[in-house]
Amino acid sequence: MDEVPIQSGDDVVRVRQQVRIVAAQNGLSLVDQTKLVTAASELARNTLVHGGGGVARIEVVKSGNGRVGVKLQFSDEGPGIPDIDLALTDGWTTGSGLGLGLSGSRRLVDEFELNSKPGAGTSVVVVKWSR
Ligand SMILES: Nc1ncnc2c1ncn2[C@@H]1O[C@H](COP(=O)(O)OP(=O)(O)OP(=O)(O)O)[C@@H](O)[C@H]1O
Ligand SMILES: [Mg+2]
Repeated sequence: MDEVPIQSGDDVVRVRQQVRIVAAQNGLSLVDQTKLVTAASELARNTLVHGGGGVARIEVVKSGNGRVGVKLQFSDEGPGIPDIDLALTDGWTTGSGLGLGLSGSRRLVDEFELNSKPGAGTSVVVVKWSR
């Protein structure tokens, strides 16, 4: 498992690069690599901008039927998200973005889990399976 700290824009670039490498090494198609890297980029940027920094964990996982996947976790100890359903709505933002980062990321991966509590930080776990 790789751990990449997210404290700067350069770190977001490092996360993207590392996700690309691990996805390519584990048999994700070029299209799926790009989908996962795009999701990672949005989630890493949220960790930095909204969460005040945190960490990305990159892990290779295996399913019961022998498929290989790449699992990513983004966690921070920032302010958290009061209303998760609202945060996952296309176009909803508390900042100056488009409000498409979370909702878009969810559509780009196979599994998506967002846990957050106001004052207790945020964790987003995603998985993309090889096919
Ligand atoms: N890690 C986080 N910590 C706290 N709040 C978050 C976090 N990630 C997302 N949010 C909240 O969820 C909202 C929606 O996130 P989303 O990524 O969809 O949009 P955005 O970051 O505002 O804009 P965009 O990603 O399109 O530039 C954010 O505006 C923010 O309020
Ligand atoms: Mg965002």
